[in-house]
Amino acid sequence: EAAEKGGYEHFMIKEIYEQPKAIRETMTGRLSKDDSTVLFDELKWTKEEAAAIKKIVITACGTAYHAGIVGKYYLEQLARLPVEVDIASEFRYRSPLVDSSTLAIVISQSGETSDTLAALKEAKRLGARTLAITNVVGSSIAREADQVIYTWAGPEIAVASTKAYTTQLVSLCLLALYIAKLRGAIDQAALQKIIRGLKNLPEQAHEILEDVEPIKTFATQYGFNEDVFFIGRSLDYAVALEGSLKLKEISYIHAEAYAAGELKHGTLALIIEGVPVIALATQTDVYEKTISNIQEVKARDAVIIGLGFKGDKNLQKYVDHAIFIPATEKHLAPILAVIPLQLLAYYAAVTRGCDVDKPRNLAKSVTVE
Ligand code: G6P
Repeated sequence: EAAEKGGYEHFMIKEIYEQPKAIRETMTGRLSKDDSTVLFDELKWTKEEAAAIKKIVITACGTAYHAGIVGKYYLEQLARLPVEVDIASEFRYRSPLVDSSTLAIVISQSGETSDTLAALKEAKRLGARTLAITNVVGSSIAREADQVIYTWAGPEIAVASTKAYTTQLVSLCLLALYIAKLRGAIDQAALQKIIRGLKNLPEQAHEILEDVEPIKTFATQYGFNEDVFFIGRSLDYAVALEGSLKLKEISYIHAEAYAAGELKHGTLALIIEGVPVIALATQTDVYEKTISNIQEVKARDAVIIGLGFKGDKNLQKYVDHAIFIPATEKHLAPILAVIPLQLLAYYAAVTRGCDVDKPRNLAKSVTVE
């Protein structure tokens, strides 16, 4: 096992560090050299096929579900299609409105999660066209779906998913751009900008991983707190959900993610002196609004760790500590922003002496309902 960990103490940290390579592999062969198009040999859709889709439903569990939430933003904003995202165990029992004009996307690292497989079968039974995003070639979900996009992240051993999540986001972004172009929903300049941004991601992810000391320090400093809150708006909220799941599943710290604008409808009651709040502020469209939410929690004496783009001096004025990631397109920010949160969870779990790779009561793949 030590050999498999390649010198790292745990599989999770090894897999976190494999992300630049995994992200690169996910894109390999799927982007044209001139940055003008997304190529999916495994899909080969016609314009007519893309035009026939009226609605998309995404189903998944756990981290893959959180990837699905990001996917909703991608597909709605880039391909301009309505998207529903549902937890697989909910979808299958809610008599979903799905027919032959629906594209049902299931996301699963293992391709074996029983609820996700059942959701896929249900969507198929209702006549939907089905597409799986998975990491495991020949898995049950890959075999059951009409078409498959493989994430090519390589084997993921740690129970807490890391490189599978980032490569699921890359796959979803590629898919959204692919559908957007076929449907004429995106202009060429916007498409190229995102493709160039995608190509920079491996290097930018690497840059984050080069300097983990500040994150380690926060984790040791706040690793023994009982509660941690994550806030953000738009795509930052989607990443907040994943950040809080990472923290709770491996460090057993109670963590919750809130859409920052929703704070005053309840959660603010829990914000008292010294409570750590991790505030994500990478989404420029809602940046000012996020800053005012940060001020709301600051007024209650929370300790705020802000996460924003490098060069954002303004953010530093409102937070106690800042974590910066390289600047990128707003749609790609989640792929970088999650990395410091994975590291925070990892170092908090190590600080607390938790079994990082095999957290209590959890399994890598849940093949029973
Ligand atoms: C389990 C794992 C999670 C994972 C979820 C979905 O709960 O512990 O890390 O996100 O299953 O797994 P899947 O293989 O379908 O992505």
